[in-house]
Amino acid sequence: MPRLLAFSKIDTLYAYLIKGAMFDHEELKVYFRGEIVEFKDATISVSNTAFLYGLGVFTGIRAHYNEQTDSLYLFRPEAHYERLRLGCKLMRYSNFLDSFDYPKFLKALTDLLTANKIKQDCYLRVTNFTDENKITPKFIDYKDSLTIFLYPLGDYVPTGGMRCKVSSFVRSGDNSIPARIKPNGIYVNTAFAKTEALMGGYDEAIFLDRNGHVVEGSAENIFVVIDDVLITPPPSDDILEGITRRSVMEIAKDKGIEVRERSIDRTELYRASEAFLTGTGAKVSPVVEVDDYQVGDGKVGPISEKIQSTYFAAVRGELPEYASWVHNVYS
Ligand SMILES: Cc1ncc(COP(=O)(O)O)c(C=O)c1O
Repeated sequence: MPRLLAFSKIDTLYAYLIKGAMFDHEELKVYFRGEIVEFKDATISVSNTAFLYGLGVFTGIRAHYNEQTDSLYLFRPEAHYERLRLGCKLMRYSNFLDSFDYPKFLKALTDLLTANKIKQDCYLRVTNFTDENKITPKFIDYKDSLTIFLYPLGDYVPTGGMRCKVSSFVRSGDNSIPARIKPNGIYVNTAFAKTEALMGGYDEAIFLDRNGHVVEGSAENIFVVIDDVLITPPPSDDILEGITRRSVMEIAKDKGIEVRERSIDRTELYRASEAFLTGTGAKVSPVVEVDDYQVGDGKVGPISEKIQSTYFAAVRGELPEYASWVHNVYS
C-alpha cells in the first residue's frame, strides 16, 4: 500500500476526511516520458512550451476498488484512449500517435497502478504535452510526451444536490479552442466560470455557447428531464463528448427512459423537473437549483437517482450487463 498520509497537505487531508482517500499523490510514482519514476523526478522546465501556453491534451480516468472481489476497475479505458488519440491527432502529437496503440496505453495505466500497489479508489490524470522549451506556440516540429499521475479524488462536486449558476463566460467554440478534445488550455475558460460561480456562493457553473444554448458544466456534461424525456445537448453544441455522458445515455435507454440529443435553452433549465451533471470527476451529480430557481421540487428526482445508483454500481464492476465497461487491473 502507498505510505499512510502525512497530514501536511490540506486538500489531501480533506479528501481523506470526506472520502477515506489514503494517499499523498506526491509520495507515489508517476509515468513520465516512457518510464515510471518518483514524483519528484517528473519535472519540466519553466520555459516548457506546454507550461507557457497550455499545449497539452488530457483525460481523467477513475479506478474503483471493489473490496468484495478484491478488484480494481478502470472505467472505460478504451473510450478514454480513443478520445485522447483524437486530441493528439488534432494537436499533431506524432509521438503519441506513432507509439501508443491501445494495448500500450492500457499497460502504462496498469503498470502505474501496480507499481504503486493501489487498492483503493483513485483518479488517473493522463496528459500528452508539448515537451519542448521553446517560445513559439505551435504544434509542428516539436516533441510530445505522455505523463500520468494518480490523485486521491473524492467528490469533485456535491453529489446530493447542487446549486448552479449560468456563467457570464461563454464556452470556447469549436473554431477557437475545440471543447471536444479536452485541451489543457481550454481550462482557463473553465477556471473563469468556476471561480465566478464559487465566488457567488454556488457549487458549479453552467456554460452557454455563443448562440445562447446551454452546453455543459465547467467540467461536466449536462442532462435535464422535461416531460419524462432525458435531454442533453448534441456534440455539435461545443461540448466535450463525455464518456460518463455516453454511459448515462446507455443506462437510460436500457431502463426504458427516452433520451434526446438537442440544443437546450437557458429557461429550460428553470422549467426542467430534474437536472444533473455527469463527468469522471463529477460522476452523476443532481442539480437542485439554477440561478436561484428551484429545479423541479428542489430535491433529487427519481430519474437522476435511478441513473446515479446504476452508474455507481457499474463503475465498481457490480453489474454484469456493463462488465465490458470496466477493466480489472489485477486480473
Ligand atoms: C468540459 C468537460 N465536459 C465534460 C466532461 C465529462 O467528460 P467525461 O465524462 O469523459 O469525464 C469533462 C471532464 O471530465 C469536462 O472537463
